[in-house]
Amino acid sequence: MPTPDPFRAIEISRLAHQLKAEGRDVIHMEFGQPSTGAPAAAIAVAHRVLDADPMGYWESPALRERIARHYADSYGVKVDPARIILTCGASPALVLALSSAFRAGDRLALARPGYVAYRNTLKALGFQPVELACGPAERFQVTAAQIAAMDPAPAGLIIASPANPTGTIITPPELAAIARVCRERGIRIVSDEIYHGLSYGEPARSILEFEPTALVINSFSKYFSMVAWRLGWLVSPADLTAAARAYVGNLFLTAPSLSQHAGLAAMDCTAELDGHVDVYRRNRALLLEALPRLGLASIAPPDGAFYIWADIGHLTDDSLAFCGRLLRDTGVATAPGVDFDPVDGHRFIRFSFAVSTPQIEEAIRRLEPWFAARTMEAA
Ligand SMILES: Cc1ncc(COP(=O)(O)O)c(C=O)c1O
Repeated sequence: MPTPDPFRAIEISRLAHQLKAEGRDVIHMEFGQPSTGAPAAAIAVAHRVLDADPMGYWESPALRERIARHYADSYGVKVDPARIILTCGASPALVLALSSAFRAGDRLALARPGYVAYRNTLKALGFQPVELACGPAERFQVTAAQIAAMDPAPAGLIIASPANPTGTIITPPELAAIARVCRERGIRIVSDEIYHGLSYGEPARSILEFEPTALVINSFSKYFSMVAWRLGWLVSPADLTAAARAYVGNLFLTAPSLSQHAGLAAMDCTAELDGHVDVYRRNRALLLEALPRLGLASIAPPDGAFYIWADIGHLTDDSLAFCGRLLRDTGVATAPGVDFDPVDGHRFIRFSFAVSTPQIEEAIRRLEPWFAARTMEAA
């Protein structure tokens, strides 16, 4: 079994925590994790359950039904709750999706840049990732034309919209075109919808609106601000549900019971959670206004998620060393592009703006003179 590539943002985070322990004021923009915590009603439910329920292995029928209702309410799609499998986050949901839908050796297409774990999970499970270079012209997303041109056709396609690390959203017509090409060519789609709920223009559409046989993974880690509760789900097509259930039983048993109770309450905390999205919207606007002043003009304005993917090729060809120096000098932690793109990522960094607005303002204050000095250095 090949050893997966390391997640290098973890190295940056480790350094950030070390600097913090030494008394430095660190702003954590290296990971995509809300700093807000679970919604108040979810925490209240968790307190009640802890006091009253010894808990055990369990899958909440009420939560599966509530998630099914979410598909009807948000996307106009009917999903049988029996097809929803609760997991410990999107990460195991991805493992279930891949294990149940594909056979060892299968080729799966995906965008480069993309979330680091896709490539590594595919390799760890014995599949072949086929990374399609997606630049600013494609807004860093796979296109139907790229899929149509693949010879031979891959067995599967992984899409993420909004995406990590760019935040870009695949437009509805393009999503429809991708679904059409995949149907014609017998390509099974896995859609990572973990950043749904976090969009700054039109809301992202679910692949299930266009392709009912797709597999969808999602999680409580992002919009619901419950990253550490380790709760997510897979929507499995009817023909793969038995296989996905067999895998979840063997590999993971069940998602944490406490989290399932809390997650059910969180799904009705829209006003509080949309308040977090308003903060991200302000943070995004502040960064989009500031980054060009820093000389970072080549950025893809994110339609959703909480990331900005910035080209720093005029300053360095070693994004990991660059992030390390930036952190040491300013206390601002960012993620090196090499995590998301093994070919061109050496000249990109990713900013996460899932922090408070005062922290974003402070980060910009520190970044401005630092980038000015680097620009002078490079001239
Ligand atoms: C695109 C994407 N998918 C999946 C995950 C994993 O999320 P979870 O915490 O639900 O396992 C992440 C985490 O950052 C992500 O960015």
